[in-house]
Amino acid sequence: MQIVHLSDIHFSEAYFVPEIAESMLQKINQLDPDIVVITGDLTENGFSAEYDGVKEFIDKIECKDKVLVPGNHDSKNAGYLHFEDLFENRFPTRNLGNVTVVGADSSQPDLDEGHLGRENYGWIKEAFSGENFKVFALHHHLVPIPLAGRENTVLVDAGDVLDLLNRCKVNLVLCGHCHIPHVWNLNNMLVVNAGTFCSSKTRGKTTQCFNLIQAENGENNNWNVRVSRVFPQGKLELVTETVM
Ligand SMILES: [Fe+2]
Ligand SMILES: [Fe+2]
Repeated sequence: MQIVHLSDIHFSEAYFVPEIAESMLQKINQLDPDIVVITGDLTENGFSAEYDGVKEFIDKIECKDKVLVPGNHDSKNAGYLHFEDLFENRFPTRNLGNVTVVGADSSQPDLDEGHLGRENYGWIKEAFSGENFKVFALHHHLVPIPLAGRENTVLVDAGDVLDLLNRCKVNLVLCGHCHIPHVWNLNNMLVVNAGTFCSSKTRGKTTQCFNLIQAENGENNNWNVRVSRVFPQGKLELVTETVM
Protein backbone atom coordinates (compact mmCIF):
# COMPACT_ATOMS: atom_id res chain seq x y z
CA MET A 1 0.00 0.00 0.00
CA GLN A 2 1.43 3.34 -1.04
CA ILE A 3 0.36 6.72 0.31
CA VAL A 4 1.60 9.95 -1.24
CA HIS A 5 1.51 12.84 1.21
CA LEU A 6 1.94 16.36 -0.11
CA SER A 7 1.29 19.75 1.40
CA ASP A 8 1.46 23.51 1.05
CA ILE A 9 0.93 24.02 -2.67
CA HIS A 10 0.16 27.74 -2.03
CA PHE A 11 -1.43 28.15 -5.46
CA SER A 12 -1.09 31.84 -6.41
CA GLU A 13 0.64 34.00 -8.98
CA ALA A 14 3.31 34.88 -6.46
CA TYR A 15 4.42 31.50 -5.09
CA PHE A 16 3.32 28.58 -7.30
CA VAL A 17 6.22 27.25 -9.41
CA PRO A 18 4.65 25.47 -12.43
CA GLU A 19 7.81 23.61 -13.58
CA ILE A 20 8.27 22.03 -10.16
CA ALA A 21 4.56 21.23 -9.88
CA GLU A 22 4.65 19.50 -13.27
CA SER A 23 7.72 17.35 -12.51
CA MET A 24 6.29 16.35 -9.11
CA LEU A 25 2.96 15.50 -10.75
CA GLN A 26 4.67 13.19 -13.24
CA LYS A 27 6.54 11.45 -10.43
CA ILE A 28 3.35 10.88 -8.42
CA ASN A 29 1.52 9.47 -11.42
CA GLN A 30 4.46 7.13 -12.09
CA LEU A 31 4.32 5.89 -8.48
CA ASP A 32 0.61 5.13 -8.96
CA PRO A 33 -0.29 5.55 -5.24
CA ASP A 34 -3.34 3.98 -3.60
CA ILE A 35 -4.10 7.12 -1.59
CA VAL A 36 -3.05 10.76 -1.90
CA VAL A 37 -3.28 12.94 1.21
CA ILE A 38 -2.98 16.72 0.90
CA THR A 39 -2.54 18.52 4.20
CA GLY A 40 -3.63 22.06 3.46
CA ASP A 41 -2.43 25.46 2.31
CA LEU A 42 -3.67 24.58 -1.15
CA THR A 43 -3.95 28.31 -1.82
CA GLU A 44 -2.13 31.44 -0.64
CA ASN A 45 -5.13 33.61 0.22
CA GLY A 46 -8.21 31.41 0.00
CA PHE A 47 -9.45 33.33 -3.06
CA SER A 48 -11.91 31.73 -5.48
CA ALA A 49 -9.56 31.95 -8.50
CA GLU A 50 -6.75 30.31 -6.50
CA TYR A 51 -9.09 27.49 -5.52
CA ASP A 52 -10.10 26.98 -9.16
CA GLY A 53 -6.43 26.85 -10.19
CA VAL A 54 -5.42 24.39 -7.50
CA LYS A 55 -8.47 22.17 -8.15
CA GLU A 56 -7.48 21.92 -11.82
CA PHE A 57 -3.97 20.90 -10.75
CA ILE A 58 -5.13 18.34 -8.16
CA ASP A 59 -7.46 16.77 -10.74
CA LYS A 60 -4.36 15.86 -12.78
CA ILE A 61 -3.13 13.59 -9.98
CA GLU A 62 -4.16 10.12 -11.10
CA CYS A 63 -5.54 8.55 -7.94
CA LYS A 64 -9.18 7.96 -7.15
CA ASP A 65 -8.77 8.25 -3.38
CA LYS A 66 -7.61 11.72 -2.38
CA VAL A 67 -8.07 13.03 1.13
CA LEU A 68 -7.72 16.78 1.64
CA VAL A 69 -7.87 19.13 4.61
CA PRO A 70 -7.60 22.93 4.58
CA GLY A 71 -4.72 24.95 6.06
CA ASN A 72 -4.66 28.38 7.67
CA HIS A 73 -4.09 30.07 4.27
CA ASP A 74 -7.16 28.30 2.81
CA SER A 75 -9.39 29.71 5.53
CA LYS A 76 -8.35 33.31 4.89
CA ASN A 77 -10.98 35.55 3.32
CA ALA A 78 -13.69 32.96 4.12
CA GLY A 79 -11.92 30.61 1.69
CA TYR A 80 -13.21 27.58 3.63
CA LEU A 81 -16.50 28.09 1.75
CA HIS A 82 -14.74 27.41 -1.57
CA PHE A 83 -13.00 24.41 -0.01
CA GLU A 84 -16.36 22.92 0.95
CA ASP A 85 -17.73 23.52 -2.56
CA LEU A 86 -14.78 21.91 -4.34
CA PHE A 87 -13.71 19.16 -1.93
CA GLU A 88 -16.97 18.35 -0.11
CA ASN A 89 -15.87 18.07 3.48
CA ARG A 90 -13.33 19.69 5.82
CA PHE A 91 -13.43 16.58 8.07
CA PRO A 92 -13.17 13.61 5.67
CA THR A 93 -13.11 9.94 6.77
CA ARG A 94 -12.26 7.14 4.33
CA ASN A 95 -12.05 3.40 4.83
CA LEU A 96 -10.04 1.89 2.00
CA GLY A 97 -9.47 -1.84 2.42
CA ASN A 98 -7.42 -2.24 5.61
CA VAL A 99 -6.59 1.47 5.90
CA THR A 100 -8.61 4.19 7.65
CA VAL A 101 -7.78 7.82 6.88
CA VAL A 102 -9.30 10.58 8.98
CA GLY A 103 -8.70 14.22 8.11
CA ALA A 104 -9.52 17.25 10.24
CA ASP A 105 -9.63 20.97 9.61
CA SER A 106 -7.32 22.52 12.22
CA SER A 107 -7.59 26.04 10.80
CA GLN A 108 -9.47 29.00 12.24
CA PRO A 109 -10.59 31.77 9.87
CA ASP A 110 -7.98 34.55 9.61
CA LEU A 111 -5.79 33.11 12.36
CA ASP A 112 -2.48 31.32 11.86
CA GLU A 113 -2.77 29.11 14.95
CA GLY A 114 -4.23 25.63 14.74
CA HIS A 115 -6.94 24.21 16.96
CA LEU A 116 -8.83 20.93 16.74
CA GLY A 117 -11.28 21.27 19.62
CA ARG A 118 -12.87 18.88 22.12
CA GLU A 119 -16.07 18.73 20.06
CA ASN A 120 -14.16 16.71 17.46
CA TYR A 121 -12.53 14.13 19.74
CA GLY A 122 -15.58 11.85 19.98
CA TRP A 123 -16.17 11.21 16.28
CA ILE A 124 -12.42 10.82 15.66
CA LYS A 125 -12.29 8.10 18.34
CA GLU A 126 -15.30 6.42 16.74
CA ALA A 127 -13.76 6.61 13.24
CA PHE A 128 -10.60 4.87 14.51
CA SER A 129 -12.42 2.12 16.43
CA GLY A 130 -11.43 -0.73 14.02
CA GLU A 131 -8.16 -2.64 13.60
CA ASN A 132 -7.06 -1.01 10.34
CA PHE A 133 -3.82 0.83 9.59
CA LYS A 134 -4.81 4.26 10.92
CA VAL A 135 -3.82 7.58 9.37
CA PHE A 136 -4.70 11.00 10.76
CA ALA A 137 -4.20 14.10 8.57
CA LEU A 138 -4.20 17.74 9.62
CA HIS A 139 -2.46 20.94 8.57
CA HIS A 140 -0.83 22.19 11.78
CA HIS A 141 1.96 20.53 13.71
CA LEU A 142 1.22 18.06 16.45
CA VAL A 143 4.71 18.33 17.98
CA PRO A 144 7.41 20.98 17.48
CA ILE A 145 9.95 20.38 14.72
CA PRO A 146 13.40 21.89 14.07
CA LEU A 147 13.74 25.14 12.05
CA ALA A 148 10.16 26.20 12.78
CA GLY A 149 11.37 29.30 14.61
CA ARG A 150 9.66 30.64 17.69
CA GLU A 151 7.13 27.93 18.51
CA ASN A 152 3.60 28.91 17.49
CA THR A 153 2.89 26.23 14.93
CA VAL A 154 1.66 23.44 17.19
CA LEU A 155 -2.07 22.93 17.78
CA VAL A 156 -3.18 24.80 20.88
CA ASP A 157 -4.73 21.52 22.09
CA ALA A 158 -1.82 19.35 20.88
CA GLY A 159 -1.40 17.47 24.18
CA ASP A 160 -4.98 16.26 24.23
CA VAL A 161 -4.93 15.40 20.52
CA LEU A 162 -1.68 13.41 20.90
CA ASP A 163 -3.21 11.50 23.79
CA LEU A 164 -6.40 10.85 21.79
CA LEU A 165 -4.49 9.56 18.74
CA ASN A 166 -2.21 7.42 20.89
CA ARG A 167 -5.16 5.84 22.66
CA CYS A 168 -6.76 5.18 19.24
CA LYS A 169 -3.49 3.40 18.22
CA VAL A 170 -3.02 5.65 15.23
CA ASN A 171 -0.04 4.52 13.12
CA LEU A 172 0.65 7.63 11.10
CA VAL A 173 -0.02 11.36 11.49
CA LEU A 174 0.48 13.57 8.43
CA CYS A 175 0.99 17.36 8.81
CA GLY A 176 2.22 20.35 6.82
CA HIS A 177 2.28 24.09 7.64
CA CYS A 178 5.90 25.09 8.25
CA HIS A 179 7.34 23.77 4.98
CA ILE A 180 9.94 21.64 6.77
CA PRO A 181 10.02 17.90 6.16
CA HIS A 182 10.49 15.97 9.40
CA VAL A 183 9.63 12.66 11.06
CA TRP A 184 9.15 11.86 14.76
CA ASN A 185 8.39 8.41 16.14
CA LEU A 186 6.30 8.85 19.32
CA ASN A 187 5.09 5.76 21.16
CA ASN A 188 5.23 3.84 17.88
CA MET A 189 3.19 6.50 16.07
CA LEU A 190 4.98 8.17 13.17
CA VAL A 191 4.39 11.93 13.01
CA VAL A 192 5.36 12.99 9.50
CA ASN A 193 5.62 16.62 8.39
CA ALA A 194 5.86 17.56 4.72
CA GLY A 195 7.83 20.33 3.05
CA THR A 196 6.15 22.61 0.52
CA PHE A 197 5.23 20.64 -2.60
CA CYS A 198 5.85 23.18 -5.34
CA SER A 199 5.83 26.71 -3.92
CA SER A 200 8.77 29.10 -3.68
CA LYS A 201 8.06 29.43 0.07
CA THR A 202 10.88 27.11 1.12
CA ARG A 203 12.32 27.62 4.58
CA GLY A 204 16.06 27.76 5.26
CA LYS A 205 17.94 25.34 3.03
CA THR A 206 15.04 22.94 2.51
CA THR A 207 13.75 22.26 -0.99
CA GLN A 208 10.35 21.30 -2.35
CA CYS A 209 9.42 17.67 -1.75
CA PHE A 210 6.64 15.25 -0.94
CA ASN A 211 6.44 12.12 1.22
CA LEU A 212 5.95 8.55 0.09
CA ILE A 213 4.73 6.13 2.76
CA GLN A 214 4.86 2.42 1.96
CA ALA A 215 3.09 0.13 4.44
CA GLU A 216 2.99 -3.66 4.21
CA ASN A 217 1.01 -5.97 6.39
CA GLY A 218 3.61 -8.47 7.66
CA GLU A 219 3.78 -11.30 10.22
CA ASN A 220 1.56 -11.21 13.35
CA ASN A 221 -0.51 -8.47 11.74
CA ASN A 222 2.40 -6.04 12.13
CA TRP A 223 2.95 -3.27 9.64
CA ASN A 224 6.31 -2.62 7.98
CA VAL A 225 6.36 1.09 7.26
CA ARG A 226 8.85 3.05 5.18
CA VAL A 227 8.79 6.83 4.88
CA SER A 228 10.69 8.41 2.00
CA ARG A 229 11.01 11.91 0.58
CA VAL A 230 10.77 12.60 -3.13
CA PHE A 231 12.40 15.71 -4.63
CA PRO A 232 11.66 17.67 -7.84
CA GLN A 233 14.23 15.82 -9.96
CA GLY A 234 12.68 12.53 -8.87
CA LYS A 235 15.37 11.60 -6.31
CA LEU A 236 13.94 9.41 -3.58
CA GLU A 237 15.48 9.40 -0.10
CA LEU A 238 14.52 6.85 2.57
CA VAL A 239 13.99 8.66 5.89
CA THR A 240 12.81 5.97 8.26
CA GLU A 241 11.73 2.37 8.35
CA THR A 242 9.93 0.73 11.26
CA VAL A 243 7.69 -2.14 12.30
CA MET A 244 4.53 -1.32 14.21
FE1 LIG B 1 2.07 26.79 4.16
FE1 LIG C 1 0.08 26.85 7.04
